[in-house]
Amino acid sequence: MANKITTENGTETVLRTENLNIYYGKFLALQNIWLDIPKNQVTAFIGPSGCGKSTLLRCYNRLNDLIESFRAEGQVLYYGKNLYAPDIDPVEVRRRIGMVFQRPNPFPKSIKDNIAFGAKINGYRGNMDELVEQSLRQAALWDEVKDKLNQSGLSLSGGQQQRLCIARAIAVQPEIILMDEPCSALDPISTLRVEELIHELKEKYTIVIVTHNMQQAARVSDKTAFFNVRTTETGGRNGYLVEYDATATIFNDPQQQDTKDYISGRFG
Ligand SMILES: Nc1ncnc2c1ncn2[C@@H]1O[C@H](COP(=O)(O)OP(=O)(O)OP(=O)(O)O)[C@@H](O)[C@H]1O
Ligand SMILES: [Mg+2]
Repeated sequence: MANKITTENGTETVLRTENLNIYYGKFLALQNIWLDIPKNQVTAFIGPSGCGKSTLLRCYNRLNDLIESFRAEGQVLYYGKNLYAPDIDPVEVRRRIGMVFQRPNPFPKSIKDNIAFGAKINGYRGNMDELVEQSLRQAALWDEVKDKLNQSGLSLSGGQQQRLCIARAIAVQPEIILMDEPCSALDPISTLRVEELIHELKEKYTIVIVTHNMQQAARVSDKTAFFNVRTTETGGRNGYLVEYDATATIFNDPQQQDTKDYISGRFG
C-alpha cells in the first residue's frame, strides 16, 4: 500500500475516491464522488441531514461492509490502492483508519483496558503501561485519569469518555482518524477541548470530521467538503458533492450558490 499521490500544491493524498457511487439496495445514497483527502490535515464534511456524510466516512474504513444492502461502484483508494480489492483485509484497514463516533462508546471495562484491549487484539507486544499513558496523553486525558486507571471507562463524564475513545483509537497506531460528529453529545467546554485536541493530532494523523456545526468546521478544518441532496424525478434523494476547497474559501468565498445558502443558514 505505498503508491504516493501528490497534488499540485505538494500535499500528499492519503485517501482518494474516484467516481464513487454508493447504494443501499436500489437506493443511490451518494453519486459520483471525486474527493482527495490530504495527509496531516483536517478535512470537514458538512451538509444537510441525509446527504451521505456518514455513509462516505464509513466507506473509508469499510464499516459499510457490515450493512447487507450496501454496494459501492467506483474506487476508494488508500495511497493509490483500492480498499475494496479482494486481497485487502478489512480488519487491517480498520486498524490503519480508525473511527470515533457521535456518542462516546467506551467498553464496559477499566480506563486502562479500554486502551489495552484493541492494542492486544492487534498484536501489540510492547510495554502496555507506556502505551496507555502515551495514548491518554495524546488524547489530553492523562492528567484527569492517571490516578484512577482501574475505574470503569463508563464512570467518566461524556467529554472525558469521548477523549478516552480518541485515546483508544490512537492506541492501535492508525494513520487516519475518522470522526462522525464527535462533539454533538458534548457540552461547549468539552467540545473546545476536543477541538484543541484535533488541532494537535493533525501533526501525526490525518483527520476527517463530520460536523453540523459551521463554526466548528471553520475552526478545526483545513479543507471543507459541502454535500447536498438532489431530489430525482422519481422522488429519490441522492447525495452529491457540491464544492470542496480550502475551508477559508468555502466559508468566505464559496463558488456555488447552494454553498452560500447553506453556510449562511438559509437551508439545512
Ligand atoms: N444502513 C442503511 N440502510 C439503508 N439506507 C441507509 C443506511 N444508512 C443510511 N442510509 C440512507 O442513506 C442516506 C445517507 O445517510 P447518511 O447517514 O450517510 O447521511 P448523513 O449525511 O450522515 O446524515 P446526518 O447528518 O443526519 O447524520 C440517507 O437517505 C439514509 O436514509
Ligand atoms: Mg451522519
